[in-house]
Amino acid sequence: MTSDAPSPEDPTPIIEARNVSQEYRLPRTKLISRRPTLDALIDIDFHAMEGEAVGLVGESGSGKSTLTRILVGEERPNAGVMNFHGKDVWDANRAGRIAFRRAVQVVLQNPRASLDPRMKVGASLVEPLRSLGVQVDHERRMYEVLDQVGMSKEAVHKYPHEFSGGQLQRIAIARALMPAPKVLLADEPVSALDVSIQAQVLNLLKDLVAELGLTLVLIAHDLSVVAYTTSRVAVMSAGRIVETGAPADLFTTPKAEATKLLVDAVLTVEGGLAGQALA
Ligand SMILES: Nc1ncnc2c1ncn2[C@@H]1O[C@H](COP(=O)(O)OP(=O)(O)OP(=O)(O)O)[C@@H](O)[C@H]1O
Ligand SMILES: [Mg+2]
Repeated sequence: MTSDAPSPEDPTPIIEARNVSQEYRLPRTKLISRRPTLDALIDIDFHAMEGEAVGLVGESGSGKSTLTRILVGEERPNAGVMNFHGKDVWDANRAGRIAFRRAVQVVLQNPRASLDPRMKVGASLVEPLRSLGVQVDHERRMYEVLDQVGMSKEAVHKYPHEFSGGQLQRIAIARALMPAPKVLLADEPVSALDVSIQAQVLNLLKDLVAELGLTLVLIAHDLSVVAYTTSRVAVMSAGRIVETGAPADLFTTPKAEATKLLVDAVLTVEGGLAGQALA
């Protein structure tokens, strides 16, 4: 792969973790002992094609956020490779690294923690352009992305505390979109929000995939959240991907024990997104 702009028929995943393992060293439990280790990821194969919406689900501690940090290049895996357009990001030259950092952006769970409370929204939006050295008309780009996430221009003059959680998550998504990424990784983007507005934010993510041709990796512990938004879902348990499939198949014929537990969890939850999942 040499081109930065592959054709839509290109079978190379835009991002791909191959045979990835990640081990964390824990503090010593005794003065004279080897430091214990924790296998957070074990031989993970995960990929997303350009324009695809992929879900990643699993119980708490299964390794979802660890994999997210690897997919965005924040952590280097102990073993395996992390590819962007088929090339190892940890082996890339400076230009390749910059292209990757710009192309893959993240939205986190709590927008109040990811936006600086002392900075006006406008300044927060522009910040990724500055840090990545993206040469565009800042003001024009801000208004463009605010429109894409359904927020008005006036938002740029306000502070985070002036917005609701749902509005702030839209702003956090806008911030991630500022450098015109190809891939958006959203780690539990609705789990801190009121149930009544979760679907609105998920619909926004869906629309962005359809309208901008964005690749979406949606991470959640709730199978209904990813089923609603993505067309292929990987189920994680204890550091491994134990099953991958179409959301409807996972609901109707779950094979792995972890998938069955996630299906049960959805079916026993009252309200929320449960039941809408297969609509
Ligand atoms: N920096 C770290 N050092 C040591 N252990 C870590 C570190 N980061 C994660 N872990 C451990 O790795 C495992 C996977 O954690 P991770 O945060 O990736 O899970 P998760 O699926 O995102 O969970 P949650 O649904 O609660 O967000 C857990 O056992 C966690 O305690
Ligand atoms: Mg997590």
